[in-house]
Amino acid sequence: MGRIEILCSYFDYCQSFADVGCDHGYCTEYALKSGKCKSAVIADVSAKCLAKAEKLLSAYIQSGVCRSVCCDGLKDIPEQTEQVLIAGMGGEEIIKILSQGFIPQKFVLQPMKNAPKLREFLLARGCKITADDIFRDDKFYFVIKGERDGGTSAYSQSQLFFGRDSLNNPVLKEYAQAELAKRQRHLISCTDGLAREKIMEDINLLTEVLK
Ligand SMILES: C[S@@+](CC[C@H](N)C(=O)[O-])C[C@H]1O[C@@H](n2cnc3c(N)ncnc32)[C@H](O)[C@@H]1O
Repeated sequence: MGRIEILCSYFDYCQSFADVGCDHGYCTEYALKSGKCKSAVIADVSAKCLAKAEKLLSAYIQSGVCRSVCCDGLKDIPEQTEQVLIAGMGGEEIIKILSQGFIPQKFVLQPMKNAPKLREFLLARGCKITADDIFRDDKFYFVIKGERDGGTSAYSQSQLFFGRDSLNNPVLKEYAQAELAKRQRHLISCTDGLAREKIMEDINLLTEVLK
């Protein structure tokens, strides 16, 4: 299975779905085709990107099942939308979108980097994290699924760093090996004391997970 298919397998059945930063629109196409959602909003800050999704989903748009909005983050997304996907952008950008907008009732997030910061943010906001895993499609990806309410008890440092469910997933070992090699190479050329400390901290966590 490829990234899109794996990501979409995390969707719940819902009435309303929004794909924030939809770009090509493949995830919304999956949600509508599979019957995972009854209606969808495709949104992107870039009109050029949105146009790709509009073309792909033109039949759904014409029939009124799908609506297209060009906006920054959740700005024009109705707050009562049941399930929101934000995928393929950095964790800090996802935090900004949620902070400036709202925390959706249900969400599926796939940060390209800074996943630990995103986990910390969601936990601090009292979200319930229902899945927090890693998968591989050539590259490694973290996926975080959750709900606005219900809270999740505090995470350990390893859970924050790698994702709670990743810790029981063999893919994490492959990720840790690759990241460890990267950090070890980085350490050789890094002369900044603080940066070295952070790299060493990461190396310790990665080594721990490989045991
Ligand atoms: C790499 S694509 C990811 C597309 C798709 N979500 C996926 O995971 O395959 C990132 C998309 O997010 C859009 N984007 C970035 N920041 C955004 C924001 N603040 N609000 C809405 N869209 C944004 C970009 O224009 C781009 O189309």
